[in-house]
Amino acid sequence: MRHLLSASDLDRDTAVRILDTATEMAATQGREIKKLPTLRGRTVVNLFFEDSTRTRISFETAAKRLSADVINFAAKGSSVSKGESLKDTALTLQAMGADAVVIRHHASGAPHLLASSGWLAGAVVNAGDGTHQHPTQALLDAFTLRRHLVAAGDAGLGRDLAGLHVAIVGDVLHSRVARSNVDLLHTLGARVTLVAPPTLLPVGVEAWACATSYHLDEVIAEGRPDAIMMLRVQRERMGAGVPANGAPVATGFFPSPLEYTRAYGLDARRLAMLPEHAIVMHPGPMNRGLEISADAADSPRAVIVEQVANGVAVRMAVLYLLLAGGPKEENA
Ligand code: CP
Repeated sequence: MRHLLSASDLDRDTAVRILDTATEMAATQGREIKKLPTLRGRTVVNLFFEDSTRTRISFETAAKRLSADVINFAAKGSSVSKGESLKDTALTLQAMGADAVVIRHHASGAPHLLASSGWLAGAVVNAGDGTHQHPTQALLDAFTLRRHLVAAGDAGLGRDLAGLHVAIVGDVLHSRVARSNVDLLHTLGARVTLVAPPTLLPVGVEAWACATSYHLDEVIAEGRPDAIMMLRVQRERMGAGVPANGAPVATGFFPSPLEYTRAYGLDARRLAMLPEHAIVMHPGPMNRGLEISADAADSPRAVIVEQVANGVAVRMAVLYLLLAGGPKEENA
């Protein structure tokens, strides 16, 4: 693996190898001393052109736990705000000796451009590009699913997600998380049903490796999903703005927030309809009261905080597999 740009680039064996490596990384994180010397002498740059809490912090934590040097670059406060291009930013990072660049960008395809341009010699990791892909989110979701639902005794080592049914609900149209998860879950043998209003399903979704439905109650009652993954309603991509108090606002994509919640929100009633073993997932950040109620988000079935913790182990695995084993490690 030279870069990690898209969940669709991962075949089953590579994906399982990342999940197995993440399991080993997670085991080291229970120790008193969490730091491993593996990436000593390597430099990881977190290049974030778009806001992030979980992804940015967990990549930084992952790189530091592997003893890499970490440079955090946010577009706000950098020369990007003076008009500097992605190319010149990349050339600057190359001059500083970046071994890996973790990039989040509002433009779909920006990580691919960085990886294929020749501006950088190091590995490129996509930390979310536009509405396109977020492969490490899909990996941490698969890791969480495997931990809860596959061969609990041995943490599912060597295993995929064959036979599981995952319902992904909400704003699929704007969701790189949904796209990445459909790709990876299919590769790992799981069955996916996307549930959304017609306005929030992308054109061409029929060609994706999943089923679709407009009816959440029906999918829960008849589909009996092993996991339900609620998606954030991405108001900032709907031209609706986000009020400072975070209150639900009307958009052109559904009649009203209340009607969206009634049709597609996960609340106590729908939570009670899920199979007993089913888990509740959300990539975060959540719009509490819109796509998920406090009852559901804080219920014992919710693994949302655990998803964040698993993100560190998964990102340690990705950085390790991309960077370890090269000349600098041999010289260390
Ligand atoms: N899930 C996710 O990507 O969250 P952040 O935007 O906080 O990184």
